[in-house]
Amino acid sequence: MERLQKVMAHAGIASRRASEKLIKEGRVKVNGEVVTEMGLNVSKNDTIEVDSIPITQEQTLYFLLNKPRGVISSAVDPKGRKTVVDFFPSVEQRIYPVGRLDYDTTGVILLTNDGELTNKLTHPTYGVEKTYVAKVTGLIDKKAIKTLEKGVVIDDYKTQPAKARILDINPTSKTSLVELTIHEGKNHQVKKMLMSVGFPVEKLTREKYAFLTTDGLQSGEWRELKGFEVSKLKLLVDD
Ligand code: URA
Repeated sequence: MERLQKVMAHAGIASRRASEKLIKEGRVKVNGEVVTEMGLNVSKNDTIEVDSIPITQEQTLYFLLNKPRGVISSAVDPKGRKTVVDFFPSVEQRIYPVGRLDYDTTGVILLTNDGELTNKLTHPTYGVEKTYVAKVTGLIDKKAIKTLEKGVVIDDYKTQPAKARILDINPTSKTSLVELTIHEGKNHQVKKMLMSVGFPVEKLTREKYAFLTTDGLQSGEWRELKGFEVSKLKLLVDD
């Protein structure tokens, strides 16, 4: 349920304030009845008319893509490279990614046309948890893990406490697998954090965004989020 003036604004009728004016002027009907009081909550199933012309509420869509390497996570790329949106040729609505993954990072990325949810999910206030697995050069040790957990300085910024653990150490290839869970989303954060403790990232994948994983999705495959998953995401950033 959303407030009538907000739904009107989302449908492109007018700004929220101008929509309130239309309501006060008695020009708005909900399910055939004129509504003049402010703050009425409406759902997708309600019919809204302005000057007796029905408005179409834009359907909100939510997708999870298992992003492959070599794909840019913006809606368009001036250099003409493949973007995450290119995986959705059957979706007519304009959707965009929630936050970013680097060109060479794989894993969970959400796409939607819900601007309000996108803003909240990407806002540092809410600190949505993201879990990454990195293959790094070198044999990582407990000291580096502790440092990562406490926070490291990258670009004059001290990272928030994080969770880190060693998944594997391979003395033959002199590489390690590290899992890192962070609540922020600074540019190239994971790569910079690992670099700052002396372990350059060779490969990076996002295993989890909040409670969402790529389970059941091959690289390049996507699925629509279930209703309960959307509700759970909204609850995470509820204020
Ligand atoms: N941190 C990075 O360094 N790269 C990503 O793509 C995501 C997080």
